[in-house]
This record gives sequence, structure tokens and C-alpha cells, in this order.
Amino acid sequence: MQYNFDEIINRRGTNSIKWDAGDLLKKIGITERFDEQTISLWVADMDFACPPAVLAALRKKIDQRMFGYTAHYTSPDYYGALINWFSRRMNWKIHPEEIVYCPGTVHALNVAVRAFTKPGDGIIIQRPVYAPFTKAIEENNRNVVNNELINADCYYTMDFADLEEKAKDLKNTMMILCSPHNPVGRIWNADELRRIAQICRENNVLLIADEIHGDLIRCDQTFTSIANVADTDNIVIGTAINKTFNVAGLHVSNIVIKNKELREKFQNTLGMASPSPFGIATLIAAYNESEDWLEQLKVYIDGNFDLLEKYLAEKLTKVKYRRPEGTYMAWLDFSGYGLSPEEVHKKIYVDANVTLEDGKVFGKGSEHFQRICLPSPGPLLKEALDRIVKQFE
Ligand SMILES: Cc1ncc(COP(=O)(O)O)c(C=O)c1O
Repeated sequence: MQYNFDEIINRRGTNSIKWDAGDLLKKIGITERFDEQTISLWVADMDFACPPAVLAALRKKIDQRMFGYTAHYTSPDYYGALINWFSRRMNWKIHPEEIVYCPGTVHALNVAVRAFTKPGDGIIIQRPVYAPFTKAIEENNRNVVNNELINADCYYTMDFADLEEKAKDLKNTMMILCSPHNPVGRIWNADELRRIAQICRENNVLLIADEIHGDLIRCDQTFTSIANVADTDNIVIGTAINKTFNVAGLHVSNIVIKNKELREKFQNTLGMASPSPFGIATLIAAYNESEDWLEQLKVYIDGNFDLLEKYLAEKLTKVKYRRPEGTYMAWLDFSGYGLSPEEVHKKIYVDANVTLEDGKVFGKGSEHFQRICLPSPGPLLKEALDRIVKQFE
């Protein structure tokens, strides 16, 4: 079956954070302009219809006409679908008892911080990085310890010497790894993952690996889960259908925790949690029946990267960028224009009326970057890029 990713579906009026939360975005300073004409490419969700198998499963659920208390642990299909997906696609063998359902990966990060660390502890992250990592640390009264990534011509690597030093400090008890990395797009390779795992293990630093972008990579790339290369006894791994199948509003994350003691601590801090009947049906239909959809989606998203690269090569020639190995986001360095971050922001958000995400959100030192999310129909993306180009010509 051929899926149509070109269709522009109007998401305004659907309570979408991406398309309807303009007042909020103005209030929190993401943008000062948001109206009917705004093209919104900031939040990492897709403007594509979900896989047909997911929609059919949801319709079937509706026909049940009752939505009482549900529990995924009553359904071997839930575990089967999940376990088969990771076994088939990543050669990662997960045992059902290792899986803890959590209503969101960010939620899980917060739970992990509370379950495994004490107020005042240091938690290592690698900036520039997805802002909720910082929030999960600071809002739980722990301290951010930044192991800054090294940027060489838009290709990012890890500073292992600095990581080792920080891991050795007894105050630092946890590390949150973003793999693949949002926003820099690296898929950490087996050697890098092994080294991180080793440094964490040797220094008693608990490692939380957020692998939510693991399915959404370029077609010529392969994703390596940290579970494939390291002993996961002190590693907690976050997985989700949320990004992969555009169902983030259904809140289905599964956190894989091999170590029983850690798992129980996490579960006790989380409390009772179970997906809605819609979440359960979605996970099963997504993992069992939507793989071909995902493969076509990846090709389409690669095409959007091609489109972006054409614009960069021909019309936004001073932007520095490297095609990300994973994630559907591009990390654009506007410093070549010699403008202040505020001037770049005004040109894009106000004058072009396109909402992206300012680099400063991902950490100090990234002010001259913009992050753009590309999983939108090509014509929409094209219009956004045309508008931006006009401001920089
Ligand atoms: C690295 C990373 N983790 C987690 C999330 C959000 O996950 P969830 O919707 O499962 O809370 C995102 C969304 O952009 C992300 O980029």
C-alpha cells in the first residue's frame, strides 16, 4: 500500500500544542507572533495522519462503546507486539517483566530523577539538548552538570575526558543520554555507547537512555540501542510509540528496566499507571501492523531533508548544517549572517511568520542556532522555507 504524506491536514482547532497554543507560545517567549497564517514547525510532532492500522484499531475501540478501567498487563498482545518490534528491528531481546508502562517519556525522566537521586545531586546531560532534560533536573531540585558536546563543523561528538571527570565526582549520581540526540541528530555508535556505559558503571552513575527517536532515522542509517552493546544492569531505557507513529497525545511510553531493584523503585515512585484503551489498541496496531508505513515515512522525511538542503545550497547559503543521522529535526547555524540571535529570531518568527525553536532553548552557547522540525507535508515545508528565504535574501 502507498501512503500519502503530501496531504495537508488542518490541525487548527484540535487542541494541538503545535498549532493551537499560540497564546501559550507568546507567553513563554517562543514567539511574539502566532496567527492564522503562522506555519508552525517548532514542536516535535508530525503533521501526517497516523498509520491506517492504528486508525482502524481506534475505530474498533470506539465501537466497543465503553472505556472503563483498562490494564495493559491483561493483554499478552501488548507485550508481544512491543517485544517483537524491538527484537525484529533492533535485535534487542526484552523480557515482559522488564517493561514498565509510563504515560510519557518526559514523565519517566522526572520519575527516574525522583526515584534514583536525592535533592542536591548532580545529573549529567550533554548540551545542546532537549530542554525538558534540564527541567526534569532543576524542577526536582537537582543540579544540571553539563558535559557539553563538541561541535566540529556541525558534527557533534562527546567529550569523554570531561565526562569521566564529572562521573568521578561523587555528587553526580545520574546521567541522562539522548540517543539519537535531539537536536544535533547524532546516532551514537557502538563504541561511543560502550564508553559511556563503562564510564557510568565504573563510577556508579545510573544511566538513563532516552531512545524515543530510535525508529526515526535516515534510511541509510542503523540505530544501535545501548542495550545491544552494554550490560544494562544499571541502565534504564526509554522507548515510546509517541514519536514514531505520531500518537504523542495518547501517552504510551514503555520504560525498560532490567534490574529488579531499580524497576521496583521506579514503579513505586511512578505509582499506579496504565494506558487508556486507546493507548493499548494503538500500540498493538502500530508495532504489529504499521512497519511498512514507518518505512515509507522515513523515505518521505529523507525527501524533506533533500528539499531543505536544496534551499540551503541555493538560497540560504550562509546557514551551516549537517544532515542528521537520526531524528526528523534539522539544527541550523545562522551565525554566518553576522546578525544577532534576536535579529534572526525576528526575521523568522515575526517577519516570515514561521515558528521554529531558538537555539538558546537547548543550552547556552547555541543562541545562533534554530531547530526546525521537518515531518510535515512537502508543500507546507516549502512555503515555510520560501518565507524564511525572503527575509535573508
Ligand atoms: C529526546 C526526547 N525525549 C522525549 C520527548 C517527549 O516524549 P514523550 O512525548 O514520550 O514525553 C521528546 C520530544 O520531543 C524528545 O525529543
